[in-house]
Amino acid sequence: MTVLVTGGAGYIGSHTVVELLNAGHETIIVDDLSNAKLDVIDRIETITGKRPAFYQFDAADKERLRDVFANHKIDAAIHFAAFKAVGESVRKPLQYYRNNIDSALTLLEVMEEFGCKKLVFSSSATVYGPNNPHPYKEEMPAIQSSSPYGWTKVMIERILTDYVTAHPDFCAILLRYFNPIGAHESGLLGDDPNGIPNNLMPYICRVAAGQLEKLTIFGGDYPTPDGTCQRDYLHVVDLAVGHLKALEYAENHNGVEAINLGTGNGISVLELVTAFEKANNIKLPYVIGPRRDGDLPAFWADAEKARNLLGWEASHSVKDMCRSSWLFAKGGTPESSFS
Ligand code: UD1
Repeated sequence: MTVLVTGGAGYIGSHTVVELLNAGHETIIVDDLSNAKLDVIDRIETITGKRPAFYQFDAADKERLRDVFANHKIDAAIHFAAFKAVGESVRKPLQYYRNNIDSALTLLEVMEEFGCKKLVFSSSATVYGPNNPHPYKEEMPAIQSSSPYGWTKVMIERILTDYVTAHPDFCAILLRYFNPIGAHESGLLGDDPNGIPNNLMPYICRVAAGQLEKLTIFGGDYPTPDGTCQRDYLHVVDLAVGHLKALEYAENHNGVEAINLGTGNGISVLELVTAFEKANNIKLPYVIGPRRDGDLPAFWADAEKARNLLGWEASHSVKDMCRSSWLFAKGGTPESSFS
């Protein structure tokens, strides 16, 4: 297949492009590099021996997106391009709604113009909101979130569901990610956020590298076994393979399917810190601080549907996640904010 990947230079996008190229798919990246670096394209080529087509522009730019569809016979799209910082979205809601929803609508409109009927959408476990019991199952109401970022995922899921109702020959797969961490085994691709990281694993890596003094664990008094929050951390390469499986499924099906991508296991912040220390033989300075607004005590996936429908399950261990994250962080990228 020829696959358009919006946001293909980003953390999850780049790992997915590697899996697509390794599986023999022709791959076209559209990315404005607002939160990614150009040398990711070279790194993808180093890993796979193939260079994906790359266009640098915002996926909401309809004219340029049309040109890409006119120049390539695109069979399917994977839509990653979006702003994703939860805290920032609370401060800048209009930017988040405009950017995330505009690019999804534009992509859908252009896909319709060119008769492209297969879409895999990058959604999040955040759509389950604060009221569902875990493990989260796909049939639970997924209609509420706790931040503008999360609401854009809820809304785009709704838009795609309505679109499929109107166009039953279309296939939209809504992949609800849990907490992706880890990096490519080459150490060439990984999570390299600009500025001080918000997410746990990039923060841990900066502390391990001595660039930040210590980790603050947000809350030690949650109703969990060790008092710290529990999440379903999964390896980004497993997540990338999940996209490949979703694409294969979409090739032969119509309709809309929401599918969790998680391991089905919850582990705590403290357990992850300990696993990181052990896997990399590093002592990680940390303190237990106050809770962070909006954090839920614990959630993880029910991973049955992905297994049954896609034949997918996570295979990497927490140790793999910790080792590969550190391998990437130690290398960093030449112009990264590490310096
Ligand atoms: C968040 C979002 C999710 C989004 C994901 C990736 C919510 C409810 N969840 O997940 O939608 O897809 O980010 O961007 O908004 N922690 C610390 N210290 C730190 C950083 C984090 O203790 O310095 C803890 C948090 O309290 C949490 C866990 O680590 O318990 C994971 O946090 P994080 O990596 O930010 O992911 P989520 O908040 O689970």
